[in-house]
Amino acid sequence: MLKHTLVFAVLLCAAPLAAQERPSQATVDAYLKATFGKAPPEWQARIKPDDSLAICNATRNNPSSAQSDEILKREGARVVLPADGKFLGDWKKGYVVANNGRGGQFSDAPGTVSGGNCFACHQLDPKEVSYGTLGPSLAAYGKDRKYDPETIKDAYTKIYNSMAAVPCSNMPRFGVNKVLDEQQIKDVMAYLFDPESPVNK
Ligand code: HEC
Repeated sequence: MLKHTLVFAVLLCAAPLAAQERPSQATVDAYLKATFGKAPPEWQARIKPDDSLAICNATRNNPSSAQSDEILKREGARVVLPADGKFLGDWKKGYVVANNGRGGQFSDAPGTVSGGNCFACHQLDPKEVSYGTLGPSLAAYGKDRKYDPETIKDAYTKIYNSMAAVPCSNMPRFGVNKVLDEQQIKDVMAYLFDPESPVNK
């Protein structure tokens, strides 16, 4: 019995070697397209990476310095700052945006409001027990930066289009990709920068 198990184990080890061959790009593309089958047209359009994402994909998120400059320039030009010049909304609504991971999923009912899902990657309110660590902690974000107006503008830019600040950022491009609207970004900004927000307590 033991012998049989050993033979089986050896075969199992050998099998993945053959499976490691990369499928052709055409196979991968066709498969991806098929998984988007029932998605609405604006989603279909996202299958094709935009020019900046194409560079990130081709370089495995390791763009050259010339490519980084190109991305920063292109993505910076896509940032739309609030027309009324106000960056901060309501921090209580911002908490809801930060804590909502729904929207943009196949299982969502049509018209579902998307959230920012910030807690999936960041610590924000230090009292919140559950958060991800892919991004840096944002606890005391406004307070530590003395609520500086330039920093507030930079943070809005970052949230609107993360690649305008860091080429090939792993953070979603919330404004550019229409995940969050202007008011939602203002509210989440208030969650980061309002002195009354639990983030700064
Ligand atoms: C999928 C993970 C992910 C999500 C979701 C995410 N972020 Fe990030 N964020 C990151 C990463 C990674 C960084 C650091 C690298 C970079 O700047 O691109 C970052 C950086 C930041 C920074 C800059 C921090 C600094 O260094 O000063 C801010 C501000 C920020 N995120 C805010 C937010 C807000 C607000 C949300 C929700 C609307 C959010 N993030 C959602 C991954 C994420």
